[in-house]
Amino acid sequence: MSTSTQPTKKLRVLTGDRPTGKLHLGHYVGSLKNRVALQDKYECFFIIADLHTLTTKPRKEDIAKLRENIREMVLDYLAVGIDPEKSTIFVQSAIPETYELNLIFEMLITLPRLTRLPSIKDMARAANIDEDTLPFGLVGYPVLQAADILLPRAHLVPVGKDNEAHVELTREIARRFNRWYGEVFPLPKALIGEVPTLMGIYGKAKMSKSLNNAIFLSDSPEEVQAKVMRMYTDPTRTRPDIPGDPDKPSNVVFRYHEIFNPDKDEVEELKERYRQGKVGDVEVKKRLARALNAFLDPIRERRAYYAQRPDLIEDILIEGTRRMREEARETMALVHEAMGMYGVTEIRPRVEALLRRSA
Ligand code: TRP
Repeated sequence: MSTSTQPTKKLRVLTGDRPTGKLHLGHYVGSLKNRVALQDKYECFFIIADLHTLTTKPRKEDIAKLRENIREMVLDYLAVGIDPEKSTIFVQSAIPETYELNLIFEMLITLPRLTRLPSIKDMARAANIDEDTLPFGLVGYPVLQAADILLPRAHLVPVGKDNEAHVELTREIARRFNRWYGEVFPLPKALIGEVPTLMGIYGKAKMSKSLNNAIFLSDSPEEVQAKVMRMYTDPTRTRPDIPGDPDKPSNVVFRYHEIFNPDKDEVEELKERYRQGKVGDVEVKKRLARALNAFLDPIRERRAYYAQRPDLIEDILIEGTRRMREEARETMALVHEAMGMYGVTEIRPRVEALLRRSA
C-alpha cells in the first residue's frame, strides 16, 4: 500500500423532498441551508421524490402538476446554491431500480412496525384518509424511502424530526438484509438539524404552504414587504408608545429579525426601543422587509438565471438521474448476487440479451 496521503473517500449523503412546488423560508432554514453546506464535505444525492407524492395524491390531475412542481423546486434548489457540479439532483420515478428494491425491502419489515409509525397516521390525516381508505402504498411510504436511501448506499440522511423514524426503519431493513443475504448496505444515520422550526408569518403554526403563512424564496420584494406588514407582533401593544415585549416567542417580527437580519446592532437597538415604547411596528417591519429582501436578492438573481434556461434545468436533471442510475445498477448487482434468485440472476439476463438483439 502507498503511504502517500490518499484522498479518503467522501461519505455519502442522501436527502430530498416530495415535489410540492415552490419552497419557502422554512425550507431554507430547516434544510436547504444545511444542504448547501454539506456539498463540499460529502458526496450528496438530492432526490426529488415524485413517487412518494403518489401515496396521497395518485390521481391523474395530481400527476399532471408534477412537471411544474419539479421545475419550481429545482429552481429553488439551484437558487439557494445547490450546485449540480458538486451534487447529484435526480428524479425518483426515473430510477426503475427504486421500484425493484422497494419490493425486496417490503419483505424485510412487518406490517405492525409500519402501522405503528405516527408519521403514517399524520400523513393520512392531512390527506383526509381514514382507516378504511388507507392505501397499501401509504403504509409502505417509509419502505420506499429506505429504498431511496440505500440505493446509493448512503451513510447520512439529513432530515427533520418528522422523518427520523423513517431513517431508523431504514437501518432495520439494512441490518436484516445484511444478516440474511450478505453485507451490502451501510447502516445510515439520520442527521437531525438543531434549528427550531420556522414559524409562519402569523406566529403559532410552523411555516407551511397549505396554511397560507409562508414567504416563498421566489416572492418579489413587494410580496415580501406586504407579508411582513401582515406579521404578528405583540398584541398587547396597540400604540407605538406602549412598551412591548420583543422576546415573546409569538412576536414573529423579532424572531425573523434574529434569523435573517445580519445587523445584530440594529436588532438590539430595535428591541430596546420596543421595550421602551419608542418604536412603531411599521418601522420594525420595514427594517425586517429590507433585511429579508437583501437576503433574498442573490437567491432571486440565481433563480432568474435558471428560469430563463428551461433546457439547462432539464439537462441537470437528466445528468443527475444518469449518475444516480450508475450507482443504482451497481447496488442492484450486489443485491442480486447476495440474494441469488434463479429468475433474477439467470433467466433475466438471458431474456434481456434476447430483447436487445430483437430491438
Ligand atoms: N419523506 C421526505 C418528505 O418528508 C421525502 C423523502 C423521500 C426523503 N425519500 C427520501 C427524504 C429519502 C430523505 C431521504 O418529504
